[in-house]
Amino acid sequence: MNTDIDEDIFEYLYSHLNPKRLEHSYNVANLAVSLAERNDVNALNAWLAGLLHDCAKSMTDKELIKFLKNRKKKFKYFKEVSIKSPHLLHSFAGEIIAREYFKIKNETVLKAIKNHTLGRENMSILERLIFVADSISHDRKWKYAGTLRELAKEDLNKAFFEVLAEKISYVIRDAGWLCPQTIDTWNWYVSNFKKDS
Ligand SMILES: [Fe+2]
Ligand SMILES: [Fe+2]
Repeated sequence: MNTDIDEDIFEYLYSHLNPKRLEHSYNVANLAVSLAERNDVNALNAWLAGLLHDCAKSMTDKELIKFLKNRKKKFKYFKEVSIKSPHLLHSFAGEIIAREYFKIKNETVLKAIKNHTLGRENMSILERLIFVADSISHDRKWKYAGTLRELAKEDLNKAFFEVLAEKISYVIRDAGWLCPQTIDTWNWYVSNFKKDS
């Protein structure tokens, strides 16, 4: 894809992300476009959200907390995330950079960036699509990435459940801190969507 603001975005990403993260962002954007076309989602929105989803990834934990506090952008569980797993804040900071620096106005794109780490209740298709693409882009080498990449092409809903379940199991197996927002996301989906439908 090629849009008017691509040049600005690539320039920004080149100077802010390491080569591995840059490649990941490009892969997520490409996968997002291909999944968008299969799911009646605007491809340009998918491209922009994919490219920008990790634009704040190079900020340190301290910088992320300060950045969000300065803009009074606190959200449910902000305090808990800031203490236990501040790197997760990069999705929230990324949304602000997309809005302020790149002047992205499309709320669906902004929400897809913002919620790609923890998810939320009742996500739009684009939000779920970016959430999935982020975990199974071609640079991802974890055990089920390839299988889920195939599944996502057939059924985004099933792939979303699997990716979310894998993310949760990974944290549990690693004896890590599981953000309550991720649990809220899971509980909302099992209560409102059928896992196998
Ligand atoms: Fe991310
Ligand atoms: Fe990512």
